[in-house]
Amino acid sequence: MRILVLGSGGREHALVWKMSQSKRVDRIYTSPGNAGTRLHGENVNIDISKPDELRDFILDKDISMVIVGPEAPLVDGIRDRFMADKELAGIPVIGPDKRGAMLEGSKDFAKEFMIRHGVPTARYKSFTAQEFDQASAFLKEMEAPYVLKADGLAAGKGVLILEDYDKTLLELKAMFDGKFGSAGDKVVIEEHLSGIELSVFVLTDGVNYKILPEAKDYKRIGQGDTGLNTGGMGAISPVPFASEDFLKKVEERIVKPTLEGIRKDKIDYKGFIFIGLMNCNGDPKVIEYNVRMGDPEAEVVIPRIKSDLVDLFEGVAYGNLDKKDLVISNDTVVTVMMVSGGYPESYEKGKLISGLDNIDNSSILFHAGTKCIDNQVFTSGGRVIAISSAASDMEKALESSYRNAERINFDGKYFRRDIGFDLK
Ligand code: AMP
Ligand code: GLY
Repeated sequence: MRILVLGSGGREHALVWKMSQSKRVDRIYTSPGNAGTRLHGENVNIDISKPDELRDFILDKDISMVIVGPEAPLVDGIRDRFMADKELAGIPVIGPDKRGAMLEGSKDFAKEFMIRHGVPTARYKSFTAQEFDQASAFLKEMEAPYVLKADGLAAGKGVLILEDYDKTLLELKAMFDGKFGSAGDKVVIEEHLSGIELSVFVLTDGVNYKILPEAKDYKRIGQGDTGLNTGGMGAISPVPFASEDFLKKVEERIVKPTLEGIRKDKIDYKGFIFIGLMNCNGDPKVIEYNVRMGDPEAEVVIPRIKSDLVDLFEGVAYGNLDKKDLVISNDTVVTVMMVSGGYPESYEKGKLISGLDNIDNSSILFHAGTKCIDNQVFTSGGRVIAISSAASDMEKALESSYRNAERINFDGKYFRRDIGFDLK
């Protein structure tokens, strides 16, 4: 088989790394990829905003499956485009159709879906700029902290949690005035949930499903979960507080009704569902859906999968996921993300990375923002390299990741030294 992976981060490297271990695979192309994906195949540069460029590549290289890493191509309808094209329709795409991708692309759509299909979530209402007075009245009924969410995709920045009512009204106005561009044309106001967060990942062919290992990520830039939000500074799987009993509730109350909803709404969903959850005193509630794997969650979830991922993807593509095996390792896998100095605000790129060959084999490096020039590796993004390690317990796994983090260097390197601090 020849596989094309779209994306360029640590998530894509983890997917490519895992698929390259499959006997079924002859070649993996990643577009645009990074210095890590290149180790398991070929990086190519396809401008997917030009449909013909993607189409020609796929037909020319005889690609047998396309794995979509990030959400944007799904929200743009890449699956629908394939289905509408006679020659591409038979080539499986891992990822939902455009309507399915709205579960991530529109918070209002996702909330409406959850309520309609009985999936537990925070109470909410959505408003447009014309409904500012109704929105203020609704906020008045709620208690602080107030939660405002821009409806559309806002690069992970569209959620505000505020203590003060008047400040909340000002922020609401700013959102309607374009603080997050058109993503804020509609704003979801919802009840604040208190509890501990974790994420559960599901692979589905639209009917059958497999629940993948759960994970917890560390979103803030600073030690002790302080400072600005990032794409993710580290992750851990399994999550110690996710008991068997809790995960059973997630399956019965959330995964099953979500899949039932997808079926009833006739959404063409073949891919990952990433369910962001709050554990509210033992009861799971959905904070958000994403329609792809998480990053850096993929860097801990994928290494725990012992089964052939390509075989699972074939189950997804051909609707027989129920016939496939999913074997999960009991190890704890952690990942520590090394980032560029200044991230998530402005940072410099193009720094030479040294020491990549010095790490011991207790860790795997998943490249995120890296680029290879003349056999040397340089930084090319905010999140640079995820250092994942597996061990019989979290402490041992963290020791490996931190030991190896010291061996890799680049100008401005930073990483959080307290991943898992709240789980000890
Ligand atoms: P989202 O972009 O929907 O993942 O939201 C970003 C973050 O905001 C989440 O990971 C939560 O930490 C927090 N959050 C979102 N909605 C709520 C809520 N209703 N109650 C408490 N925290 C929330
Ligand atoms: N780490 C969060 C995400 O991938 O959205």
